[in-house]
Amino acid sequence: MRAKIIGTGSCLPDKIVTNDALSALVDTSDEWIQSRTGICGRHLVSAEHETTLSMAVKAGQAALTDAGILPQQLDLILVATVSSDFMTPSTACMVQKELGASHAAAFDINAACSGFLFALNTVDAYFQAGIYQTALIIGVETLSKLIDWSDRSTCVLFGDGAGAAVAKASEEGMIASLQGSDGSGGDILVCRNRSNNNPYIHTGTELDYLFMDGQEVFKFAVKKEPECIQALLQQAGMQPADVDYYLLHQANYRIIASIARKLKLPLEKFPSNVSHCGNTSAASIPILLDEVNKKGMLPKDSLILLSGFGAGLTWGAALLKW
Ligand code: UT7
Repeated sequence: MRAKIIGTGSCLPDKIVTNDALSALVDTSDEWIQSRTGICGRHLVSAEHETTLSMAVKAGQAALTDAGILPQQLDLILVATVSSDFMTPSTACMVQKELGASHAAAFDINAACSGFLFALNTVDAYFQAGIYQTALIIGVETLSKLIDWSDRSTCVLFGDGAGAAVAKASEEGMIASLQGSDGSGGDILVCRNRSNNNPYIHTGTELDYLFMDGQEVFKFAVKKEPECIQALLQQAGMQPADVDYYLLHQANYRIIASIARKLKLPLEKFPSNVSHCGNTSAASIPILLDEVNKKGMLPKDSLILLSGFGAGLTWGAALLKW
């Protein structure tokens, strides 16, 4: 049995922050941000009740409603995130409590922007092994709390939000998947955890924010992601044109356009929401999936390819029949 997605949901914070608004905070401009990234605005949390957990729960509830599945029917909840509200319990366990999904095992996955794909692949492996049958997969980030808001090279790029999918063990659905990691390249996209100040060591108390060597990440993305997609298509015995839509990690529209060029495909096959969401890391692919699904762009038997890359370094792809 393979993972078949039977419902999607998403949640974006109410507050929309435009490029012009950020130009009042740091030395940047709408023209620079749009021309280098395609981003026009992003949603950011702006109230105490908007948290990683609250967005995850709303997206999860929406996906369950869309799928017609009750929380009690779930036997697995996976949450992909690098921005949990708590180090423990996991966001997945907190979502389980809020939803009342009392029969589910729940845990988080940290694979940065590739996290939703790693979680989907994990669910698919559990289904193939016959261990679980019904799973809720959520990608959620409050990246705005990891950002140095005086660093123009990162603060203009990211947004907050959550996306979710319900997957059911089925005869069809996932056709092929790939994932990979290269820890040796991890220092180009980093956010340190809290320091250790136990009585035997003092490593400082300063907070560390997200650091990114943007050009190196760009080079990694435009090389690794098309390679990963080509390898996946080869595994499935398909040509690039056979896929109806490519739902890629939404980091930068120039990266998406470069991948479309490398695959010799029209941009119409690459739906994008980076202009209004920015980069929402693990949430970007499921938010886009929900948008595309709710627009009615995925008739039964559509072929979609999800692919992304991120910190770690990590990358992944999944080819699915809708
Ligand atoms: O999901 C995580 C994955 N992350 C990514 O995929 C990000 C990948 N990288 C990128 O998307 C691009 O590298 C960026 C959008 C981050 C940067 O674009 P770039 O074309 O690579 O610009 P750059 O870093 O080469 O910077 C060009 C110039 C620099 O000024 P000088 O040295 O030429 O005078 C920067 O200081 O642009 C400057 N700059 C800015 N100017 C205005 C950097 N950030 C800004 C800004 N506004 N926000």
